[in-house]
Amino acid sequence: MKLSKKDILGMKELSRDEVTLILDTAESFLEVSMRKIKKVPTLRGKTVINFFVEASTRTRTSFEIAGKRLSADTVNISASTSSLVKGETLTDTAKTLEAMNPDIIVIRHGAAGAPHMLARMIKQSVINAGDGAHEHPTQALLDMLTIRQEKGVIGGLTIAIIGDIAHSRVARSNIIGLTMMGARVTVCGPAMMIPRDIEKLGVHVSHHMEEAVSDADIIMMLRIQLERQNESFFPSDREYSRYYCLDRATIERAKPDVLVMHPGPINRGIEISPEIADGTQSLILKQVTNGVAVRMALLYLLAGGEE
Ligand code: CP
Repeated sequence: MKLSKKDILGMKELSRDEVTLILDTAESFLEVSMRKIKKVPTLRGKTVINFFVEASTRTRTSFEIAGKRLSADTVNISASTSSLVKGETLTDTAKTLEAMNPDIIVIRHGAAGAPHMLARMIKQSVINAGDGAHEHPTQALLDMLTIRQEKGVIGGLTIAIIGDIAHSRVARSNIIGLTMMGARVTVCGPAMMIPRDIEKLGVHVSHHMEEAVSDADIIMMLRIQLERQNESFFPSDREYSRYYCLDRATIERAKPDVLVMHPGPINRGIEISPEIADGTQSLILKQVTNGVAVRMALLYLLAGGEE
């Protein structure tokens, strides 16, 4: 099967059936990463450029590993080692990369909409690996795969997303994806970190962590996006963690089988205590493992699905 679209720009552009196809395909690729020889010839002869203008550990590494495990040729470009530092524009960089005829360009950029602009300019497929505070669709897809594996379903579950909702592209993509798949989503955080009118996305809003976790099947914690804040939204880390850190006392207010997620990187002791991050209810490293499979699925469905 092949996705009937050129690009993966956001959860907003995906249908329920397309999400299910991506998750099913990712499920089938999980096994490749468990083999002694972790490589299949599926994308031999294809070229994937990972163009990361913003810092990343998980997304960039997993896209590179995903491409290599599918036998694609992968090339990594970061802002600091590209001609962006010499003043080249994104448009000129895009046209330059297009002229080398890759098959897929994966882009992370600090500006919301940069992947959409790139997708309009070039003929190759573009995957959004995170654009500003806008969307991070591949993170939401790997989160959904993890939830489906652990709970068997997504529809009907209650998911509490807690923290800096306003500046989080992970929150936005998950809200769109999870509500589309039939989950109930509660967002929780200080008033300054919850966008006005967020209820229009079909979520319930709470400012009290104990209330938000009380009926949750999954608690998804978020990092405070200091790099996207140009003013202080809370007096101190200590003050924030007093009300919004997931620790043993808070998790005891939740269902006994509640599971904990975090997209990473985590700020230990600020939004999540080390005991919970490393505990038996934590899915954080499973999310990382699933990230490779989801990215393999996307590269395959965009570049090689028919072959
Ligand atoms: N979750 C996530 O996007 O992590 P990185 O910034 O390390 O890629």
